[in-house]
Amino acid sequence: MLPMSTHPIPAPDDTPELLDRRVGPYGEVALRRRGPHFEVIANGTFLMDTSDGRSERLLISAALDALDGARGAHVLIGGLGVGFSLAEAAQDRRPGRITVVERERAIIDWHTGADAPLAPFAGQGHGDPRAEIVHADLMDHLRTTEDRYDALCLDIDNGPDWTVTDSNDSLYSETGLDLLERTLGDGGVLAVWSAAHSPAFEARLRARFARIEVIEVPVHVERGVPDVVYLSSRG
Ligand SMILES: C[S@@+](CC[C@H](N)C(=O)[O-])C[C@H]1O[C@@H](n2cnc3c(N)ncnc32)[C@H](O)[C@@H]1O
Repeated sequence: MLPMSTHPIPAPDDTPELLDRRVGPYGEVALRRRGPHFEVIANGTFLMDTSDGRSERLLISAALDALDGARGAHVLIGGLGVGFSLAEAAQDRRPGRITVVERERAIIDWHTGADAPLAPFAGQGHGDPRAEIVHADLMDHLRTTEDRYDALCLDIDNGPDWTVTDSNDSLYSETGLDLLERTLGDGGVLAVWSAAHSPAFEARLRARFARIEVIEVPVHVERGVPDVVYLSSRG
């Protein structure tokens, strides 16, 4: 890992600067700096940057708002990314527990320590006694956990139709939805982030959940399509 504490001055032409790259079980993960922003590239896919964060925050706030009696709620966030969703959960008094599941050690490292480049984007999340980061693949975690979550807030890909690795496809399939339903507590809410509408995924949600809300969040990119948050609950 390169020394993050040096925070080199960005190139005047805004060329991205590679700060770190690691090769792990799910391909290469890289952290780049472009001007004042950081970018995460995973397995050759641009995952996200630190320039906005509204839809990643809404993933959490909308799920909590949809819960009947959200106080004390156990919220699962999958995955950590740059930390916007964790920041949103931590600044809200309603969650009683916040479990963040992240499979990339590199991402966790970029949040850890005094000069960690991504830590500021997680707000108060890293010092919050309610929050815990679990280093695991989300599907493995869902298969093995005995916890039942009030809110499952998932943002591990660019969406159901644009996954970072093939192994993530199953999360959005009937098998993945079975697992998510099993892990969702009574009265719980499933929230799934996507960079675009996914009609096939929405149809799968509608076939098994009584209430579905599809929330669009406009993006700042010229001609960009809105981000989408799918909120689902049984009643
Ligand atoms: C788009 S980012 C998350 C954005 C996050 N909502 C935020 O506010 O920054 C996706 C994250 O999910 C992680 N991830 C991808 N697949 C995963 C999986 N199967 N299990 C756990 N984490 C995963 C990636 O390493 C990355 O950190």
